[in-house]
Amino acid sequence: MCGIIGYTGNENSIPLVLEGIKNLEYRGYDSFGCAFHGDSNSIEVRKNVGRINNIIEEYGITNEVSDRSIAHTRWATHGGVTKENSHPLLDCSGKIAVVHNGIIENFQELKDNLHSHAFVSETDTEVLPHLIEQEIKEGKTFEDAVMAAAGKIKGFSSFVAMSADSDSILAVKNGSPLVLGLKENGTFVASDVPSFLKHTNKVVYLFDGDVIAINKSGFKILKTDNPGKHKARDVNFAISDVEKGKYRHFMLKEITEQQKLISSLAESNLSYLNNASSLIAVSRKVYIIGSGSSFHVALLAANLFRDLGKDAIAVQPQDLYNYSKLIASEDIFIIVSQSGETMDIVEALPLIKRNKKIGIINTEESTLSNAVDYFININAGHEKGVAATKTFTMSAILVCLLAMFSFGQEKEAVNDLKLLDINLYNLFVPSVYKIIKETSAAIKNEKDMFFLGRGNDYIAAMEAALKMKEVTYIHSEAIDSATFKHGPLALVSKGVYSIAIVSERFKDREINNLKEVKARNGKIIGLANEKLDVFDVFIRSQPAGIFSFVPQIIISQLLAYYVSLAKHIDPDHPRNLAKAVTTK
Ligand code: AGP
Repeated sequence: MCGIIGYTGNENSIPLVLEGIKNLEYRGYDSFGCAFHGDSNSIEVRKNVGRINNIIEEYGITNEVSDRSIAHTRWATHGGVTKENSHPLLDCSGKIAVVHNGIIENFQELKDNLHSHAFVSETDTEVLPHLIEQEIKEGKTFEDAVMAAAGKIKGFSSFVAMSADSDSILAVKNGSPLVLGLKENGTFVASDVPSFLKHTNKVVYLFDGDVIAINKSGFKILKTDNPGKHKARDVNFAISDVEKGKYRHFMLKEITEQQKLISSLAESNLSYLNNASSLIAVSRKVYIIGSGSSFHVALLAANLFRDLGKDAIAVQPQDLYNYSKLIASEDIFIIVSQSGETMDIVEALPLIKRNKKIGIINTEESTLSNAVDYFININAGHEKGVAATKTFTMSAILVCLLAMFSFGQEKEAVNDLKLLDINLYNLFVPSVYKIIKETSAAIKNEKDMFFLGRGNDYIAAMEAALKMKEVTYIHSEAIDSATFKHGPLALVSKGVYSIAIVSERFKDREINNLKEVKARNGKIIGLANEKLDVFDVFIRSQPAGIFSFVPQIIISQLLAYYVSLAKHIDPDHPRNLAKAVTTK
């Protein structure tokens, strides 16, 4: 996943795109670059590997003035993290610059046909400026050349191109999101609304197949499969949604926001879930699809559906092919994805085209939200920390509510939600932060950690382990407690920490398993409703019926966050990761 922004208008475009691209850094941060129209009708490019602010300072970009520019922040796919592979990429003349998000599957074939062109990078993207250059050489205008180039590339690819010889900036949308921001005397095109939200909340979402020219007075549709649908609309994002405010990191802000989000949900009218839950009620089987944290949401939901008596299974999108002979048209699919752009899921959609699909998604107008029959907005607000926190919790709660509603248990579900709301007032308190910070300091140098649990506690352990991996780089492994003695116990040596998630339902069995760990001098951090003798450290996690996993997860999120700080890691931008995986 990469971030793209472009602006053309009466204002100096440089500060606008620099501010905007910083707001897109959650999409990838291996390298940054920008291109702008220079005084001598040139295209100037400034780019390098590393963080945006460092590169801006390195080149003194803030001193530049231009009426149009584009910028890009990269999560490397084709080609290593090098200055040459960073975007923008140029044609031979240096007068055409392109920034790109996605993958060009046939780039090698296209590159081989451009043998008279000089390539300087290993990227697939670089074929784009050269394709456009070639089309112009053959007599096309810049706009027609971009359209022709767009027609030649295969795969999910959105890109933005500018030319020294055209006042317009061109945008081609196919797969990865692109949205226009309309303001007086100027127009933005970007991967996401927060990048220009300070300047306008009037947007036009683009559709796959669109080729759009933006200019100072707005935009022109050069090609579309969705005529008449490019309606400008006001989005209701708040600026506070996309800024850290009083928090040091987005991750801590978003962990903290969970309390307010859950309180609001507990008081809200949930009837918008009725249509989807009615569909589930009459379905033969429920498949819940998700990747990473969203797969853990799927596992939690499948457990609850089966507890209620509904045949349900959580499947990672890359495994869906294995079920194709089992899927019946009466089976329903719940797709969980905070970004709505996860390519593994997008690619699996053709396998379930005849099935009804419910989307639990945090991003409207995303590829997946536009592909489902019932879009249920997670409504967690923009999540910019790379590690999913509030979107995990809110999507998990929504899918569990759907399960309960599909069995007519609305009252029981809302009662548990209100209990959760009350319990969280005992979690976000100084004494809990104190024990979490002390525990984080104690475990920060661990090389390996185990997260133990049974049933939903084991799924919570999976999510807790993923958070710890993502933002602390500690090798963290979730193990079903009942499985520990069947081999993994060999990994426990003196002083090795295990984090045990223990619900009342499994307490007795858990104590036996944890005693086996203690007998090997392992140390145990217990997340439970009561302190057990077997715990070396105890952090209270109050039960909340079907939502008992929520406090367990929030404690784990905070543990991971504070270990990340203790290790001087930036939890918002952990190495090698990006907020959503929009490549195969
Ligand atoms: C979770 O912290 C990770 N960022 C990652 O596993 C993520 O959950 C996964 O890539 C799925 O993303 P999605 O919810 O946007 O589909």
